[in-house]
Amino acid sequence: MNRKYRKTVIAGNWKMNMTASEIKPFMDQLKENMPKPRFCDVVLCTPAVMIPTMIKAGKEAKVFAGGQDVSKYEKGAYTGEVSATQLADIGTRYCIVGHSERRQYHGEDDLLVNAKARALLNKGIAPIICVGESLEQREAGVTMEYVAYQVKAALSGIDATHVRRCIIAYEPIWAIGTGKTATAEQAQEVCEGIRAVIRKIYGARPARSVSILYGGSMNAKNAAELLAQPDIDGGLIGGASLKPVDFSAIIAATNQ
Ligand code: PGA
Repeated sequence: MNRKYRKTVIAGNWKMNMTASEIKPFMDQLKENMPKPRFCDVVLCTPAVMIPTMIKAGKEAKVFAGGQDVSKYEKGAYTGEVSATQLADIGTRYCIVGHSERRQYHGEDDLLVNAKARALLNKGIAPIICVGESLEQREAGVTMEYVAYQVKAALSGIDATHVRRCIIAYEPIWAIGTGKTATAEQAQEVCEGIRAVIRKIYGARPARSVSILYGGSMNAKNAAELLAQPDIDGGLIGGASLKPVDFSAIIAATNQ
């Protein structure tokens, strides 16, 4: 983390778990365990249908609501899609794009991820852009090349003022939901590499202000070590974000 130059962000990714009715009891427990003071932004990314409930429940504890996906289209005949305008209109502050599960199960490619990130930025929503290598890519030694390509593609056509509002989440696919975390050194190495890619395109100042998160089996036990790395500015947390006690312990790990 480097709080002097950029925000620390702890974002939960609930995926297709929980229901709107479960939000209030979750939030009550989270509030009870929330560290005081707190030095990071806390976000919970839910299915779109649950965002209004999350916004209402999160107000007092200053927990922001985030989406998990957005349409690349602005409006029109796209049945089932949710637009950035619609997300912004209800008060959504953040939205995940390019999660590996969307890439894997919904055929999302880097061009689409780029279009979605731009759609969000145009409506004032901070995209949380997910990148990360597969196990085969790591074993073949092409992790940094692949991740650098994903970052470049996702940011294509985004100008320097907008890039400061982007959040990059480095999530090695082999670490997601598997209980296998990247070591703090592995995660730092890639996050540092991501910042170097941004620096090369946009220069030192924007690169310094982009928050880069680590995701992939981050939990109450390993969070502090990961967050102590200079280029890891927070986490994108799946499984552990479903348990208020674990999630608040990760939030507390940013108080170092
Ligand atoms: P995990 O998920 O924390 O359960 O590994 C992370 C993610 O998919 O964003």
